[in-house]
Amino acid sequence: MALSRSLPELAHVISSCTNRIYDAYDDEGIPQPSFDAGADHFSGPFTPAVETSRVKLLEALDELRALIVGPAGHVFFLSFLIPAHTATLHTLYKFEIAKHVPLDGPISYADLASRCGLSESSTQRRVRAAISLRIFSETPAGLVQHNAASLALGTTTLHDWLGMATEELAPAALKIAESTEKHPACDDPAKSSFSIANDGGGEKDLFAIVSKQPHRMERFAKAMAWSMKVPGMEPRYTVDNLGWGNNNCPKVIVDVGGGMGDLCKAMLDTYPNIETAIVEDLPEVAAQGEKAVSPEHKGRLQFQPYSFFTEQVVKNADVYVWRCVLHDWPDSYAETILRNQIPALKPGARLIFNERCLSAPKPRDHVQEQFARACDTHMQSCANAKERTYDDWVSLFAKVDSRFKLQSVTTPLHSALSIIEVVWMEEAQQSESLDAHSQAPIGKATIDEGSIAPSSSGDSKDYLMVPDESGYETSSNGSEMSYAPEKAIALNGSTSKPDSGCREVRIVDSPTRVGRRQWLFDDESD
Ligand SMILES: C[S@@+](CC[C@H](N)C(=O)[O-])C[C@H]1O[C@@H](n2cnc3c(N)ncnc32)[C@H](O)[C@@H]1O
Repeated sequence: MALSRSLPELAHVISSCTNRIYDAYDDEGIPQPSFDAGADHFSGPFTPAVETSRVKLLEALDELRALIVGPAGHVFFLSFLIPAHTATLHTLYKFEIAKHVPLDGPISYADLASRCGLSESSTQRRVRAAISLRIFSETPAGLVQHNAASLALGTTTLHDWLGMATEELAPAALKIAESTEKHPACDDPAKSSFSIANDGGGEKDLFAIVSKQPHRMERFAKAMAWSMKVPGMEPRYTVDNLGWGNNNCPKVIVDVGGGMGDLCKAMLDTYPNIETAIVEDLPEVAAQGEKAVSPEHKGRLQFQPYSFFTEQVVKNADVYVWRCVLHDWPDSYAETILRNQIPALKPGARLIFNERCLSAPKPRDHVQEQFARACDTHMQSCANAKERTYDDWVSLFAKVDSRFKLQSVTTPLHSALSIIEVVWMEEAQQSESLDAHSQAPIGKATIDEGSIAPSSSGDSKDYLMVPDESGYETSSNGSEMSYAPEKAIALNGSTSKPDSGCREVRIVDSPTRVGRRQWLFDDESD
């Protein structure tokens, strides 16, 4: 496959995907994407068809831009623009510029400057830099007014996210080369670039540093909660793909390192038969979460201070959920954290890790990879931690205790995070193949149909999908791994094969690795 597509090929993808998105908005009666004040913060609707087009479109736009700027120009602009953008965004945060722009009309630079405590000239320079980034707009008379992006900054916890990105992530990122040089093993959170940037000597980890300063801890918790709104990160990808129905959902769940409890709230809303959800976190965060429990969750949602560097305090829960927690810790710490759970686990207890499962670079996946690799970079700079590959996860659980049985790894379509489900077994497990893909005996996958929960969406059909001889194959758009539809085994007893109407399938990779994945079959040629 050629490294890059031709300009007409890219233009075709851009045009057809854009039209498909436009039509989908029209069909749903939803306003078209806009940056006008009052527009949706994230352009919806996020139906699977729109999401597929969005992913293809963003990839094609990124590729086209790189081609047009040229290889050297591409590197130049990356390195030149990023520090300047960071400076502008940090100024917006530090002086709360978006919060000082009135919601109901424009303001002069002089008035805005006096509200922010800045000079008029500095205000104008930073705001005009922001306008070039599509944040704020200027009226013909030279007054500043909100657009949808600045309004989100001025009125939501996107502001806290901006603070965390510019005051925590950015300074730490600049120290990553230094910390890698000083501590090549990159395995001690207290010697991370974040520690070097914060206490100079590298003696404390991120959470030890931040938890001593309530405003930073509060900002961190709010920023993490806000990040759940980012497309690909929303709880619905997880909540809808657990294989639970309201009648077979767990009764007691614990969300370890659960922050403000947003994942638990989504689970409680989706599954009324969950009796209790307990969110565990550091005392400062648990106190924040407790304060924000709404009346509809009172009685079912609890917050509990707990450090996972001590023995798990909630015993015998049905499910322990971990969303974006172990990626904050290098392997030796993650092992300790997991070991601390063992005394609390009853046989059959489930641990659900909602985390990334990194893969090797794929040819048409740069935009999604930029997001995943940025997360991995931040994990390293913040804590000498990492996003893990499938093999990393397998070896982590195996190292801690062979009674942790990796049950399934599911990556819902367009979700940035995978659902990694582990069951605590009464007896030690035989170690299983680490490379289930390449060693999968073709056509011999076995699974008890009853163990797959019926799909939650009414119009879907369930299939077992078995990879063909080459294991995964690359689909026509080159960016997705796919299975050969002709190898599908219908679960509902029908002999029909998945077709363009198939919206959701359940996939079996091999007898040793069973996964459920959402899969969209579309017959679009691009
Ligand atoms: C990356 S955040 C993820 C939060 C939440 N699960 C989410 O997905 O938004 C990691 C969480 O781990 C919590 N944490 C850090 N150290 C902890 C510890 N020793 N014990 C319990 N929670 C801890 C942090 O306060 C934070 O809420």
